[in-house]
Amino acid sequence: MSVLLQTGKLYLLRKPFSKSCSKYIFHRKKSDVPRKFISFDEIVAQRRAEARQSLVVQVNSESSFNELHGYCSKYATINDIHHYKNSAGEHFMLIEFSSEENLNNVLQSCSSHKKEIDVMGVQSPFLWFRATSVKEKYAQNVTHLAVKDGSLSVNEDVLFEELMNCSSVSEQIQMLYDRTVLNDIGVRLRYMVARQLETVFSSLYANIKVQPFGSSVNGFGKMGCDLDLVLTNTLTDDLTSQKNRLVYQEKKSEGGRSPWQRHMELVGALLELRVPGATRVQKILNARVPIVKYSHDLADVDCDLCCNNTSGVYMSELLWQLGALDARVRPLAGAVRRWARAAALTNAHPGRWLTNFPLTLLVLFFLQQPASGPVLPPLRRLVELAGKEDTRVAEENLNCTFLRDLNKLPTESYSQNTDDLQTLLFKFFEFYSQFEFQDKAISINEGRPVRKPNSLPLYVVNPLEPALNVSRNVSYEECERLRLEVRNAAWHLESCLDGHKSDDWGILGLIEQKASRGLKKLLRVGNSHRLVSMKDLFNDNDELEPSAQGIRSKLEKFKKTEKLTEASDVTRGDKKSEMKFKNSQSAREVYRIRRNKLI
Ligand code: CTP
Ligand code: MG
Repeated sequence: MSVLLQTGKLYLLRKPFSKSCSKYIFHRKKSDVPRKFISFDEIVAQRRAEARQSLVVQVNSESSFNELHGYCSKYATINDIHHYKNSAGEHFMLIEFSSEENLNNVLQSCSSHKKEIDVMGVQSPFLWFRATSVKEKYAQNVTHLAVKDGSLSVNEDVLFEELMNCSSVSEQIQMLYDRTVLNDIGVRLRYMVARQLETVFSSLYANIKVQPFGSSVNGFGKMGCDLDLVLTNTLTDDLTSQKNRLVYQEKKSEGGRSPWQRHMELVGALLELRVPGATRVQKILNARVPIVKYSHDLADVDCDLCCNNTSGVYMSELLWQLGALDARVRPLAGAVRRWARAAALTNAHPGRWLTNFPLTLLVLFFLQQPASGPVLPPLRRLVELAGKEDTRVAEENLNCTFLRDLNKLPTESYSQNTDDLQTLLFKFFEFYSQFEFQDKAISINEGRPVRKPNSLPLYVVNPLEPALNVSRNVSYEECERLRLEVRNAAWHLESCLDGHKSDDWGILGLIEQKASRGLKKLLRVGNSHRLVSMKDLFNDNDELEPSAQGIRSKLEKFKKTEKLTEASDVTRGDKKSEMKFKNSQSAREVYRIRRNKLI
């Protein structure tokens, strides 16, 4: 720990990785050379080890903790237990044991299944804790749950209130990041889902490895983000060496379709039939990279599984590294991603618009600009400094070699700028409002605009495959909207500089969805930031949706009644009315606010 304090890089111990990092640090010897940065491979190794010695157990409620702890302690030593609920309100405990052997002792004690003949048991790290009428006595438990309700996302209305109360836009950006970043249990669960596939598929595929990539591990993920998974095998030089004379017989794929399509088809069928928690399996086999989408109901995460796409993992490593170099990178990218979603520039579904990945490259590229001292180096610099140990080659001979140990990066090549987050966000919008999208491409390899090789509206060079454009799907209209929205955002932030805190002050005006922004404004009374309760506007037993014109008159009525209430403490009368919204989005928003009993 002291190593980090001395170097001032304590921010590396931020929530998502804090526990595993600190474990790693405590394992280091005093004589070790001080290091500022921990590598992505070390973090991943730690997370995978954690998953190998963990189980997820469904329980009745968080008060099952003592019984579960007592029961498991009969077989093994427990490191800690984390509690969470899925969106169906079911309770789970993620238990980390002190070693993998320890966990195997517990698994050997696992009874199989109900006696129904149509259920075939399967080994996986997801279990359930059976209730019993025979009460056992367990040793006195002095430990507590490490986390309760760990996967609960922050309530949006609470978040907005907190953002409203911040004293600067920089504080808002940092708070938005801290409140929404994917937390420790979110990361643990994602590695458990990967571990489950390794366990279930291991007898079908030798040396199988299932790795999370994308926003779950690249440091830019938020609570509830999707889980991208890649299925590979871990063929090391040792395994392929001529010295190993006994070699597994192999099964060659026969038939017309590509082997990967057939494997993914099988994997899809196995997910449906053999993987507890996996539901809504969808096979997309004709894509360039065939994928299987599914939802994991027990871990409460949506997954995209593909085969042999290791470049995705190296890309995540690259993004993770650039995010680790400077403490402002991830909060800034978080604010930009959130703004883009609110402005409908990005969308969860694929189409003619931007997605989070190229948008994140836009942020990294901006931070490489030398204008007021670069925050990040160009990728070219990391490639120049790479040693033999950094050599990585992905599928189709893709060279993914770049410096892995950031401690070797000269300090003058990053963080050469002292702008606060507010200034950086404003400059980001300003930079792209002046960017020559018609002629220039965005390349984090070079860290400066390069000539566009074709006339596609938006060109963002794929850092690991520079001949490809990661935003080739973006239409001319969407690119124009991007230019318009960055100008609007710059204008909005500039108008906040006078220090006056209006209702959409700072990033609130950027991250609130436009549809709800108007409605929320309408519901705000006078200059107070308190919103009118929807309960005050509608009766609980209103069955029909309220009408658009009606809401204004109701609001007027409310204002009058509120004055009366203040003056004479007369209780309001609740009159039933029938109202209808013309716009279903507004209606949904009204009902959402109403349901949450906001305000
Ligand atoms: N990726 C890539 N090349 C692309 C698109 C994606 O290498 N053209 C890799 C990146 O590593 C990316 C990951 O695939 O992070 C997953 O892509 P996606 O799910 O679209 O982006 P995320 O970064 O995971 O963001 P989100 O939170 O929106 O899922
Ligand atoms: Mg993703």
